[in-house]
Amino acid sequence: MTTRQSRIFAVAATALSALLFMVLTVDSHRQFQELTQSQNLTPEIIHGKDVWHKYNCINCHTLFGEGAYYAPDLTKITQHRGEAYLQAYMRDPSNFYDEQKHRRLMPTQDLSEKEITDLILFLDWVANIDNQGWPPRPILVTGGFAATAASAATGDRDAAPPGTTPVGDDDDSRAKGQYLFNTAVPSCSACHSTQPGADMAGPTMAGLVARTEELLASGDYQGEATDVAGYIRESIVTPSAHVVPGAMYSAGGTSFMPNTYRDSLSEEQIDNLVDYLMTLK
Ligand code: HEC
Ligand code: HEC
Repeated sequence: MTTRQSRIFAVAATALSALLFMVLTVDSHRQFQELTQSQNLTPEIIHGKDVWHKYNCINCHTLFGEGAYYAPDLTKITQHRGEAYLQAYMRDPSNFYDEQKHRRLMPTQDLSEKEITDLILFLDWVANIDNQGWPPRPILVTGGFAATAASAATGDRDAAPPGTTPVGDDDDSRAKGQYLFNTAVPSCSACHSTQPGADMAGPTMAGLVARTEELLASGDYQGEATDVAGYIRESIVTPSAHVVPGAMYSAGGTSFMPNTYRDSLSEEQIDNLVDYLMTLK
């Protein structure tokens, strides 16, 4: 190649890349309104975004993988945690973790009730943005979403999250229950692990059957179930009928577990979950 040819080549290649870049940028911008559902933006959501900035949440958290990697990504947080939980969390995060165990702190920021409500509306708007799969996996800091992400990504019904016993095809209902545990919306595994001692936003499911037997025999039980299966069903359908003690689990008798499953799951799906959880002796 002569010098002249290389120069033409360099200029043409640069021009072509620049053009391609511009076309793709324009194309992205063209889709923003639809992907972000900007027609749904209310003054409350916009105020929530201001609260997000005012308290510098981004100094520790990420949205769309953008921000600091000290604390969990919050892009889809409202799909993993119910509103009751998020409100209580924002009021006093220190109830929700053990400084010794987790070794990381979320400061208590004294947000007003209005700020908390609008912040959650903003985070819910964010959670509904079609992010076309970005970030590809939720960014894990404390752990907890791993199992959900792994089985949802592969779409593999038999993919057992770490620490659970894979259930054979011979017991279809339990296998379905295990699958639902990871895929219900929000997924049970976002809050419950199945490993002994690993309490997350909800108590671990390991040893559930044994401790429920003790609870039912103890006289401390406040709900209406008469056996273990009944208790598990009740926990899913009416979480506040009996709450596991602990400031990180409930406030004023209202469980932080979402109370939406009785509508979002069918009878059969609830049966499947109960059958699966009955295996966690
Ligand atoms: C100084 C760093 C820091 C700042 C600033 C901060 N957080 Fe956090 N946040 C954390 C840490 C660390 C955790 C995880 C605690 C744990 O280990 O459970 C957390 C957890 C959370 C959770 C719970 C996530 C879950 O999985 O249950 C929510 C919700 C949350 N933060 C929201 C916010 C919001 C909203 C703001 C701004 C108003 C904010 N945080 C500001 C450090 C921070
Ligand atoms: C946002 C977090 C969250 C999600 C999601 C969630 N739970 Fe819970 N769960 C909790 C909390 C907090 C408690 C303890 C308070 C209470 O007793 O309701 C709990 C309690 C329970 C209990 C009673 C545990 C015990 O030790 O007695 C069962 C059973 C249960 N959940 C099953 C499920 C199932 C099944 C799903 C999915 C369909 C699910 N949970 C989804 C937070 C959650």
